[in-house]
Amino acid sequence: MSDTEGPIKTPKQLLYAVLAAFLVPIVIIVLLTQYVGNLKNPSNASDAYTEEKVLERIAPIGSIRTEPVKVAAAADQVSLSDGADVQKANADPCIIDISAADNMMFNTNTIRFDSTCGETTLNFKHTGKLPANAGGHNVVIVESQNFDSVVSKIDMKLGEDSGYLPNDPQVLAKTGIIGGGQQITIKINTSKFKKGGDYTFLCSFPGHYSIMKGKVLIS
Ligand code: CO
Repeated sequence: MSDTEGPIKTPKQLLYAVLAAFLVPIVIIVLLTQYVGNLKNPSNASDAYTEEKVLERIAPIGSIRTEPVKVAAAADQVSLSDGADVQKANADPCIIDISAADNMMFNTNTIRFDSTCGETTLNFKHTGKLPANAGGHNVVIVESQNFDSVVSKIDMKLGEDSGYLPNDPQVLAKTGIIGGGQQITIKINTSKFKKGGDYTFLCSFPGHYSIMKGKVLIS
């Protein structure tokens, strides 16, 4: 008779069956909860489209760092400041980079010679577009007291390479006249410049020197 009534034959079996009826669903719920919780784990594929993960995957394999280009590009960014700032872009105090554009302005009001250099390299760049014969520029260095005397000697017949100036002891240094896009470099013996002396740089293109000029400081 009792054989047909089911597997539970003793009170003990009944107790186990009742306990199992409670515990099994609870264990299943706990396991399901852990499974869903694991979906939030970063290692899981369903988490692959978070911002962090996407950025991680598209991150560049390398990067390019740009540094200021030595010549006019760096100097141009320092507009009409003193020469110390312009030369700061150039680590070597014995190399001076200056430029001028079609607006008839040098990119600095001041250039600085370090008297310990002996020889200083001056790189001058015309960053404009005008040709040399229409809007050329150069760099001429004179003692400030000789400024008027030197500019009175400007003569276009002397040619662009001479800076339209004769070879004259009052002209302490000069470059040729250059046009837009051109660049010129001269070496200047700075030992002939007196510390604390009053020197001026200018462009000797006719008519330019009234505004294209600045101070040369000797340190
Ligand atoms: Co000029």
